[in-house]
Amino acid sequence: MDKQATKQKAFLSMVFSGPNHYEGTDMRTGHAHLGITDEHFDAVVENLAATLQELGVDNDDIGEVANIAESVRDEVLNR
Ligand code: HEM
Repeated sequence: MDKQATKQKAFLSMVFSGPNHYEGTDMRTGHAHLGITDEHFDAVVENLAATLQELGVDNDDIGEVANIAESVRDEVLNR
């Protein structure tokens, strides 16, 4: 979970025009071996939105984050 939290922080910083020092693998290669489905992807997006809401983040900004996450759905699910 520590590693995942670090990835989420890096992702959010990048999405909101913060620093982008990402040098890892692309989203397709990075997730291809995990066997994840739409259900898993939906759960991650829902948890992310709920957490941002809990932290008092503006709904428009949450929508923006969700849209950006959606933009990589097919790559993450390797299709
Ligand atoms: C917006 C969607 C997502 C983004 C931006 C994202 C981002 C990332 C990044 C940057 C990595 C590192 C890749 C590497 O360098 O090897 C990674 C790995 C990983 N992601 Fe995601 N991810 C997303 C969705 C998901 C989902 C839906 C799951 C599962 C429910 C997931 C589970 C994992 C796991 C387990 C790893 C580690 C794989 C390994 O080390 O073998 N990710 N993710």
